[in-house]
Amino acid sequence: VTRNWSTFGLDLYVEIDLAAGRRVGLERAMRAAVCDGRLAPGSRLPSTRALAAELGLARGTVSAAYDQLIAEGYLTARRGSGTAVADLPTQPSATAEPTPVDVTPQHDLRPGLPDVAAFPTAAWLRSTRRVLTTAPSGVYGTCDPQGRIELRTALAHYLGRTRGVAATPDRIVITSGFYQAIGLLAGVLCDTRTTVIAMEDPGHDLYRVVVRRAGLTVVPLPVDHRGARIHRLSGAEVGAVVVTPAHQYPTGAVLHPRRRHALRDWAWASGGLVIEDDYDGEYRYDRHSVGALQGLTPDHVAYLGTASKTLGPALRLGWMVLPPRLVGPVAEAKRHADLYTEALGQLILADLIATHGYDRHIRASRLRYRRRRDLLLARLGPGPDQPLPGMAVHGVAAGLHALITLPAGGPSEREVLTACTREGIGVRGLAELWHTRGEHPHGILVGYAAPTEHAYPAALDALASLLTNFDRETKRRPVI
Ligand SMILES: Cc1ncc(COP(=O)(O)O)c(C=O)c1O
Repeated sequence: VTRNWSTFGLDLYVEIDLAAGRRVGLERAMRAAVCDGRLAPGSRLPSTRALAAELGLARGTVSAAYDQLIAEGYLTARRGSGTAVADLPTQPSATAEPTPVDVTPQHDLRPGLPDVAAFPTAAWLRSTRRVLTTAPSGVYGTCDPQGRIELRTALAHYLGRTRGVAATPDRIVITSGFYQAIGLLAGVLCDTRTTVIAMEDPGHDLYRVVVRRAGLTVVPLPVDHRGARIHRLSGAEVGAVVVTPAHQYPTGAVLHPRRRHALRDWAWASGGLVIEDDYDGEYRYDRHSVGALQGLTPDHVAYLGTASKTLGPALRLGWMVLPPRLVGPVAEAKRHADLYTEALGQLILADLIATHGYDRHIRASRLRYRRRRDLLLARLGPGPDQPLPGMAVHGVAAGLHALITLPAGGPSEREVLTACTREGIGVRGLAELWHTRGEHPHGILVGYAAPTEHAYPAALDALASLLTNFDRETKRRPVI
């Protein structure tokens, strides 16, 4: 028999097995609750009269169970303050510790993560307070699948001002990050009989999977130092293409102006959709960021942005600026996926943007990340002290990571990654980002944003000395 027991405003679920007798059943249930921590040390228990009434037991039965547990040391009774759970030493749990999903490496050089220790907590708190004190109670009700109008309005201004995006609130759909946005778009494209989508090669591995799972066939679009090789789209039966024009992931190239125009021309001629992943477009260190491609031809580009690189991926806040014809179908897909993105976070971000706290945070982050990239180049870039001569740092001064290719004749990517794991250095290998098999350069992606200010130089030193050791080893190898 199962009964629910409510103690002093705290609900406690107890299962009382009456087969063993009422008193014994209650004793066992309470013993179990104390041992597994559901009843925390110091918790006050209800009076015997109250508990008996709640459980439908005789008061004497409850008293006897309390006395037994007091005698066994599970409970304590103090005159005047009732019965409470005793302060037992914590027992080792019989069940295994849950495996942490995402272990932070000692030296966190994982690409793509911002410095979350620098999250603008004070500004976020001020925005939260403003939202909670001024918002009508309706904000706790339901939300439009397209997203809160406050955030869509703030983003329309912000993206127009900072990224040259042609945006109006009615073209924007708020999503739970880029991850959801690309999945929703892929689903809508499938419904409109698009079958083939081109994605940059190398490119992000996870999003390829998302697009495939939606039912599209992915074809690789090769990349060189001028970004995606757009001319490869012509002639192919491609209905949509995903690109990272401001800062190609992972090579760090910027899409060449001629290729930007070629991409626009492709979209005009074929009616295909360009999906612009502007994942870290806010971060350019040597000049102003190139504006969004979407501004060139808003009716042929779906512009996708995210707060994951500016504030943190845990917020799960992203946005799409869509050609008008796609807004309805994408909002409908969003409704069927999860109704809408959590609304309070949307309002807080809207306030942060509207009061320019978002701009201030990005400006401060930009300065910090720029210094970190400079330090990375000084430690790992070309020069007499380069830890592994011949390795190359690719890409423009932008974003949160750098691609480093390894010199021919030096250690393999696998060897470097194995050594990094051993030394607690979190970097990513390039190999898994290729769509195509065959000979590809070996390389690692080094993120410079994730560690705290304090931890970053040591992380870089750890990586540099690991690479230096490889160099010494290579020199010791006999030349055959
Ligand atoms: C290439 C690229 N696009 C987009 C994103 C943003 O993803 P999300 O908004 O789902 O966190 C990332 C983050 O890792 C990325 O690397």
